[in-house]
Amino acid sequence: IKEYEFIKVETKGKTGVITMDRAKTYNALCNGMIVELCTAVTAFDEDPAVGAIVITGGDKVFAAGADITEMVGLSFSDCYNQDKFKDWAALTRVRKPLIAAVNGYALGGGCELAMMCDIILAGDDAKFGQPEINLGVIPGWGGTQRLVRAVGKSKAMEMVLTGSMIDAKRANWDGLVSRVVEPEKVVETAVALGNKIASMSRPSVLMAKEAVNSAYELTLTEGLHVERRMFHSLFATEDQKEGMAAFLEKRKPEWTHK
Ligand code: CAA
Repeated sequence: IKEYEFIKVETKGKTGVITMDRAKTYNALCNGMIVELCTAVTAFDEDPAVGAIVITGGDKVFAAGADITEMVGLSFSDCYNQDKFKDWAALTRVRKPLIAAVNGYALGGGCELAMMCDIILAGDDAKFGQPEINLGVIPGWGGTQRLVRAVGKSKAMEMVLTGSMIDAKRANWDGLVSRVVEPEKVVETAVALGNKIASMSRPSVLMAKEAVNSAYELTLTEGLHVERRMFHSLFATEDQKEGMAAFLEKRKPEWTHK
């Protein structure tokens, strides 16, 4: 496995685990860490032994946002000409399921990174927020868009306009996270979830993710059309034959991922 400066990368079963590792700055997402995160995620996406990917900051903190020290002196043309934020597109191109395992602060770019993932699991100490308004800016990695889709306009508007945080209980209630567990269990729960997903037929998992994501991008009519065509196409796989036969024969399926 490649050497990284700002993250740790390991495989647990069939799940790739990426741990942000800049504890002194609450895992502030510096440019180097963004590049490493995108590189590691892409490498796991291409690794046939991996079926799901977990991104975490460990037991104490997820990430306190973009690194403010790297942004403080930038001019408009610095931001615009470099457009570093476009690097994050690599994360949204990943085909395997991405799970964010969040403890502590997920603020600004940290909250946005969690929302780039497909599932967010939170520890009951987790805190989510888009505090950019306090810095004289607004979210820049998708916060104004994905938060609205996750919790609705009114709640997203209040968070983005005031910079106030919500705790894990509220985030669960609002539908931002899928589940809340004890802080020390978040990573292991995410890995267990990743391994469960990785134990399914790979083409079904990839298509399921793509179909669910279509709900964000398309009209209902188009989305239903995409879903139905994907459903039909899965009948070209060996795993569909195996999955249905195994059910009727009351045994566990043995996937070939073909
Ligand atoms: N960038 C750079 N450094 C950061 C940072 C960030 N986003 N967040 C925390 N740090 C640093 C602090 O400067 C401090 O460094 P020093 O020890 O060298 O002074 C260290 O981490 C510890 O932070 P605090 O002393 O502030 O710790 P605290 O416990 O009092 O507060 C906190 C923790 C609530 C997370 C607070 O640090 C905080 O509010 N951080 C900033 C959160 C923020 O505004 N995020 C949005 C960033 S902008 C963005 O993300 C734009 C975008 O959409 C892309």
